[in-house]
Amino acid sequence: MAGFSESKNVTIFGGGNGAHVLAGTSSLVKNAHVTVVDTFQDEAERWTNAMAANGFTMKYSNGQTKSQPAGAVNFKVTKEVEANVRNADIVILCMPAFLHEMVLTNIASYLQDKCVLVGLPGQAGFEYQALAILREHGKKCSVVSIETLPWACRIVKYGQEVEVLGTKEEIYASQIEQIKSKDTDSNSSPMGQVQTILGPKPVLKREMNIIKYTFLYRPTVHPPIMYAKWKNWDGKPLETAPLFYQGVDEEAVKYLDGATNEMIEVANVLASKYPNMDFSGISPMKECFIGEYPDQIEDKQTLLSCLKTNRAYDGLVHPMKKTADGKLEPDFKYRYLMEDVPYGLLIIRQIAGMVEVRTPLIDEIIVWAQAKLGTEYMKDGKLCFVDRKHGRLPMAYGINTIEEFVNFFE
Ligand code: NAI
Repeated sequence: MAGFSESKNVTIFGGGNGAHVLAGTSSLVKNAHVTVVDTFQDEAERWTNAMAANGFTMKYSNGQTKSQPAGAVNFKVTKEVEANVRNADIVILCMPAFLHEMVLTNIASYLQDKCVLVGLPGQAGFEYQALAILREHGKKCSVVSIETLPWACRIVKYGQEVEVLGTKEEIYASQIEQIKSKDTDSNSSPMGQVQTILGPKPVLKREMNIIKYTFLYRPTVHPPIMYAKWKNWDGKPLETAPLFYQGVDEEAVKYLDGATNEMIEVANVLASKYPNMDFSGISPMKECFIGEYPDQIEDKQTLLSCLKTNRAYDGLVHPMKKTADGKLEPDFKYRYLMEDVPYGLLIIRQIAGMVEVRTPLIDEIIVWAQAKLGTEYMKDGKLCFVDRKHGRLPMAYGINTIEEFVNFFE
């Protein structure tokens, strides 16, 4: 069995779908001693009780099952933060991005310098957020940010059973070492340690250019579709939830393509300003979808046809919530806006401003989304100051110019 050659204390923060799979997976790795720290409501208690009575099971879509019987589960769940951060070799945040600031500020003073701090997923901006907070506490930990969650997954029974619907083949990761390791074994590098925890799949691909990495999260997918669908909504509840990807029209395609092309233009300006940095591979929307779903799209002619005929999107609907009379209305606080605007689109918007690229379509989407999210991000065509509570823009971490951004990671 692959694993660590010596004992590693792995502390996972989180209590949702991803944290369940990560706890189950990492606790089967040789020499990994796994603790989940979950401070949210009564989750730690519920999870602990459920495992004590029923064990812990991961079910995969190919029929495979990995079970740890009651009384012999190889990890524990607790609310205790300090001791489990102080003794950790690896700390992994596995939760939605809006929680990262709170957790990072709560744990920074307890971290050992040798600890590897991981965002799984990190999503756009985790690197400078984590590095800024570590520096504020005089800490020298390494930082690894994983592009997205390795699994499509959902909890079946809280604390005892989770379903893994799919595992990604390859995902991007970034790595920052504040103290350069002398060890040349790639398995013991910060990223190598995360790979050991995840096992063979997905393969982590290192992205060296952290500014480009910010673009690879592609925050120009969900907000444009939400905007096109709901910008003229009359407020009347619906009987059924509309299809999300397969329900797009020419208007949605205009914003999907247009916002992505504005982002590509920003990357092109950066590429000519910094010829030694690689900004390649930020593809137009149609290419992205074909790359991701080569076998599931029936008609690859246009972006519209790619979305409408992608079998992987069968049945995926807009996020909706129930009204008092049992009908449906759009849920604007779902992650498609709540995460992808303040932890995605706004970051691109600030970088565009740094290099003086105009982004009229992205601006239009932000101005609409800010009313739904209840925070003012833009006024009179200009970005407002957005603090750490309301997003993860570089400006909240003291980064105001492109030079400051490039130099931040030196
Ligand atoms: P989740 O939605 O299951 O996370 C919910 C958990 O977050 C809660 O159980 C609780 O532990 C914690 N939490 C929520 N509100 C809190 C609060 N106010 N204070 C403290 N803790 C709080 O998240 P999930 O599904 O594990 O996803 C993690 C990230 O990965 C998200 O950013 C998600 O967008 C992304 N992702 C998820 C996928 C999936 O299949 N689940 C697929 C791709 C990405």
